[in-house]
Amino acid sequence: MGLKVDLLEQSFAAVAPQGDKLTATFYRNLFNDFPEVKPLFANVDMTEQPKKLLASLKLAVDNLRKPEVLVPALENLGLRHVDYGTHEDHYPAVGQTLLKSLAEVAGDLWTEELNDAWAEAYGEITKIMLAGAAQPTG
Ligand code: HEM
Repeated sequence: MGLKVDLLEQSFAAVAPQGDKLTATFYRNLFNDFPEVKPLFANVDMTEQPKKLLASLKLAVDNLRKPEVLVPALENLGLRHVDYGTHEDHYPAVGQTLLKSLAEVAGDLWTEELNDAWAEAYGEITKIMLAGAAQPTG
């Protein structure tokens, strides 16, 4: 995918010990900055959801070097998101929130280079999830 895999792996390893803080920060920022997505989560168990988000991020980072594992997993995830009411327009909101939250939690460790590496990775993830959403066979 031409991604900065080393940077992504190292920076995720640095914030992963603060995973609970990352996910709490993420949902706080998401609902503050994009209140329009709140209804999608109205009936969602928000004690489990942050764990799922973190697990999926970990899965993505762990499999950056294994597209044969990562691509089908993301296509299926994208397809499931159709049922969750997720639209194409929601993806940039989540991406912006993820970058902001990573920066907040990483603090001084965060750099423009990391921001760009994560933005690029999120863009790829979005493309694959939306492709999965568009074709039911995954
Ligand atoms: C990189 C992008 C994203 C990732 C990795 C991701 C990951 C996940 C995961 C792992 C789940 C748990 C359920 C499952 O595995 O099917 C989930 C559920 C959910 N996601 Fe996402 N998501 C992403 C983008 C979005 C976006 C853009 C929205 C819309 C605002 C969204 C809204 C939801 C909702 C509402 C649920 C709850 C489903 C339910 O339990 O009813 N997600 N997401």
